[in-house]
Amino acid sequence: MTLDIPRPPLTGAKALVVGIANEHSIAYGCAAAFRELGADLAITYLNEKARPFVAPLAHKLEAPIFLPLDVSVPGQLEAVFDAVKAQWGRLDILVHSIAFAPKEDLQGGLLDCSAEGFAKAMDVSCHSFVRMAKLAAPLMTDGGTMFAMSYHGAAKVVPTYNVMGPVKAALEASCRYLAYELGDKRIRVHAISPGPLKTRAASGLKDFDRLLADAAQRAPLGELVDIMDVGFACAYLATPYARRISGSTVYVDGGINVMA
Ligand SMILES: NC(=O)c1ccc[n+]([C@@H]2O[C@H](COP(=O)([O-])OP(=O)(O)OC[C@H]3O[C@@H](n4cnc5c(N)ncnc54)[C@H](O)[C@@H]3O)[C@@H](O)[C@H]2O)c1
Repeated sequence: MTLDIPRPPLTGAKALVVGIANEHSIAYGCAAAFRELGADLAITYLNEKARPFVAPLAHKLEAPIFLPLDVSVPGQLEAVFDAVKAQWGRLDILVHSIAFAPKEDLQGGLLDCSAEGFAKAMDVSCHSFVRMAKLAAPLMTDGGTMFAMSYHGAAKVVPTYNVMGPVKAALEASCRYLAYELGDKRIRVHAISPGPLKTRAASGLKDFDRLLADAAQRAPLGELVDIMDVGFACAYLATPYARRISGSTVYVDGGINVMA
């Protein structure tokens, strides 16, 4: 049996990508890969301070929708989905590639994490994905694919990952439950677990350079991943070639997660 898939395989697909801060962002790799495979993009930026860094990238990718989105600001998420509905009337792909924890909570151990810091990290880095999924699902009228960026610190202890470990574990579990709840609408939900990448968010972790060096040395494939590796993995999962894959955590890490 052959699948009726356009060339390139995401031709005309509508993708909302949240989490581009600059050209190093994982979300930018996703947006660029989707665009290369034919998708149309909606891109968001955090606030006016971030806008000048993101605008040229949105322009380069010919994104017809470009809006501010801070998931902590009431109403902004709804406004983005209203714009998607008004312009496209539907959505095929959603990428959640955002995370945040207050610096003092992120850089201390879990035992020392404040209740407020834990709640803030959980809200921005995990529950906002559930809110997005709720708004995206009614627009995914022909099925769809949702992605949330996780990290191996969800499954195993990475000593410098601290509060983000439990937060990413909750994110991966949320992907499984959303995959279950949305499966009958042919919506597939994936947690993606990239190996370490030098981005702005990563620079908030203590000893991140050591993590990078260790990954490069120990990964079976012997080198670090880049944002296009993550982007093309997501692009593949968004195509009908991957139409029966849902709910699991997909590692894009050169294989390092299998090492003891
Ligand atoms: N860099 C890595 O090594 C690595 C590895 C695995 C997973 N991840 C995950 O990938 C995702 C993207 O991070 P990145 O490494 O590309 O860094 P990045 O700094 O480029 O992206 C983080 C994004 O989060 C956004 N963000 C933060 N608070 C927000 C809020 N309140 N509302 C909306 N957006 C907000 C920022 O604006 C930024 O665009 C994160 O979930 C991160 O945990 C990163």
